[in-house]
Amino acid sequence: MDFSGEVRRRRTFGIISHPDAGKTTLTEKLLLFGGAIQVAGAVKSNKIRKGATSDFMEIERQRGISVATSVMGFEYDGFKVNILDTPGHQDFAEDTYRTLTAVDSVIIVIDAARGVEAQTRKLMEVCRMRRTPVIVFINKMDRPAMDPFELLDNIEKELKIQVSPLSWPISSGPGFRGVYNIFEQKLDLFVLSDKQRHGDTISIKDIFSGMADDYIQPHANVLKDDLELASAGYPKFDRESYLAAKLAPVFFGSALNNFGVRELLDCFLKIAPAPGMTRAVERVVDAGEERFTGFVFKIHANMDPNHRDRLAFVKVCSGVFKRNKPYLLTRTGKKIKFSSPTAFMAERKSVVDSAFPGDIVGLHDTGNFRIGDTLTEGEVISFKGMPSFSPEFFRYVENGDPLKFKQLAKGLDHLMDEGVAQLFVNQASGRKIIGTVGPLQFDVIEFRLKHEYGATCRYEPLQLYKACWMESLSREQLDDFKMRKEQNMARDKHGRDVFLAESAYSLQMAEERYNKIRFHSMSE
Ligand code: G4P
Repeated sequence: MDFSGEVRRRRTFGIISHPDAGKTTLTEKLLLFGGAIQVAGAVKSNKIRKGATSDFMEIERQRGISVATSVMGFEYDGFKVNILDTPGHQDFAEDTYRTLTAVDSVIIVIDAARGVEAQTRKLMEVCRMRRTPVIVFINKMDRPAMDPFELLDNIEKELKIQVSPLSWPISSGPGFRGVYNIFEQKLDLFVLSDKQRHGDTISIKDIFSGMADDYIQPHANVLKDDLELASAGYPKFDRESYLAAKLAPVFFGSALNNFGVRELLDCFLKIAPAPGMTRAVERVVDAGEERFTGFVFKIHANMDPNHRDRLAFVKVCSGVFKRNKPYLLTRTGKKIKFSSPTAFMAERKSVVDSAFPGDIVGLHDTGNFRIGDTLTEGEVISFKGMPSFSPEFFRYVENGDPLKFKQLAKGLDHLMDEGVAQLFVNQASGRKIIGTVGPLQFDVIEFRLKHEYGATCRYEPLQLYKACWMESLSREQLDDFKMRKEQNMARDKHGRDVFLAESAYSLQMAEERYNKIRFHSMSE
């Protein structure tokens, strides 16, 4: 196949959900369709089980699993599908945000009884910011569910996007009868036989003709009324609006019962975008360009503490990535060759000779890479959009063992490159501050410093509200602000000024008094 054909047949996406909505189950069913796994249960959930949040071995085990399931590639119906896994646990939300920079589209899983939940709302903000097209799968229709109209309204309101139902459920819970597939105009029946549920599909071109009534009594009239109301109340599906991230097609089903999943996949492959444009600071890069470019969106430390090497996950943005060809790491100007790049096919990793736009390659790294780094054939560009969000939790970090000062510095440096947390240095006191999105990260850092670097750290409490990056239209105001707020000024790992606000009030006061300074709780 020629290069552009390879680009066109790729679908690289992420599945996001609030924990327990069914992301793992759906992923597994998709892999089963792709023949990437043979039996259900093969995909281990990478979520940290409830109640195990202080168990370090559990964290280590999960890290192992999350490497294995970070990227799951498979072939299906002529397409090369790459699913990028995102950690469900909210303490690892940053990891998820970064992974979302490497996807071309997203499937959102929502629990039919719960509607949109907190984590989904946050992740959707990232999708909206990046204009990532989303498809919604409303899961667990075999359980008592919210009314479909209520669900759709809930999605529109909470996710702030117009919805267009492409299937419609016939009842829910124990009485769930299946869905009418609006996209393909057929009836997919959910039947219970021999204690095993499976789907039967009946092609019904005109659901209003009465042909389907016998199958779905006593729900036939309700379904017709619902469909009429829905077609009047929601916009018709339009691919352009979907690709522009203005419209989200919605499917109903049950991942556990493998119901509605194939329909979702078939439609997804038809409408979802192939790799397209990626924005660099200097210019926009098109996937179809001949020369290779890519960026690092994730770094994973080796699980073996005796080998401190790491695996960097690179998304190919354009051209063909080739094994043993030297590439420029544009941040440092260093040229590097990779003798054993790996591709990810479900749970298997294998060395590949080449990779196309949309693919993810795992590169062995001895400490060259940082999250967000760009690789090219020689052009000096840097891809943008790797977000840093203000941490929510802060602590001073001190050296707990005077003889291991160097180890601590190195360990912290590496863990920050991996994106485990953010390190700030207070400009007045020179003290190091670690900021995280969840309290669990502090334990992970302490544990990994000890086991991988032989260093001991000690934390001291620090009450802060947010870390804000600053942009100023007035040099004078900025200088004045920095002088007055010296105690609260820090630098991030890129050397940028950061204001550490102690409370929402102090941030508000700063914003009011210094009207030419913009305070951002997110930076790219
Ligand atoms: P997550 O990755 O989004 O966190 O969710 P996961 O797939 O692990 O699913 C969470 C729970 O919901 C699991 O049950 C799973 O079996 C169940 N589930 C997923 N899809 C459906 C569905 O369509 N219908 C019903 N009734 N249940 C569904 P669990 O008991 O928490 O875990 P497990 O012991 O089954 O793994």
